[in-house]
Amino acid sequence: MAVLRITKYGEDILRRKLKPVKYEQLAPLLPKLLADMEETCLAVRGVGLAANQIGLDYRLAVILLPNAEDEKLPPTRYVIINPVILSKRGERIEEEGCLSLPGLWAEVLRATDITVRYTDENGQEQVKRVRGLLAKAFQHEVDHLDGKLFVDLVDPKLKPEVKKIIKKLRPTWD
Ligand code: NI
Repeated sequence: MAVLRITKYGEDILRRKLKPVKYEQLAPLLPKLLADMEETCLAVRGVGLAANQIGLDYRLAVILLPNAEDEKLPPTRYVIINPVILSKRGERIEEEGCLSLPGLWAEVLRATDITVRYTDENGQEQVKRVRGLLAKAFQHEVDHLDGKLFVDLVDPKLKPEVKKIIKKLRPTWD
């Protein structure tokens, strides 16, 4: 296993709409890839990591949902391949961050309750209705796979301020 470098805001691959991937082609790579993605995400206390955040053009992301009862317990891992959000309900403005913009937190609007379809790490198609932090994480990761970042969703009035903060933070990124 290895902790990989996470691509940062401003790098082209984060703006790419990633290619759908055939599970059979991905399967031989998955054990090492998922272990590396999980280790990389945990090393920076992240909740999710998309393939383009480690420089890969696959519609694949990992979500590590913290245990709500006890943070010391291991997170629940969701491997989402070619995910599609089928429906969205409810709205909530909440603070969000991203491993590709370390140090920046901003409020964005997300659906509170979504239905998603994806292929899991065993090649099984899943359709799930999810809420709360998991719903937020799914939306954030699917955006990554479409080349979108959470800062795109910030209230336009706050964007000049966000730009200033990014400019200050950038020299601190690896
Ligand atoms: Ni992110």
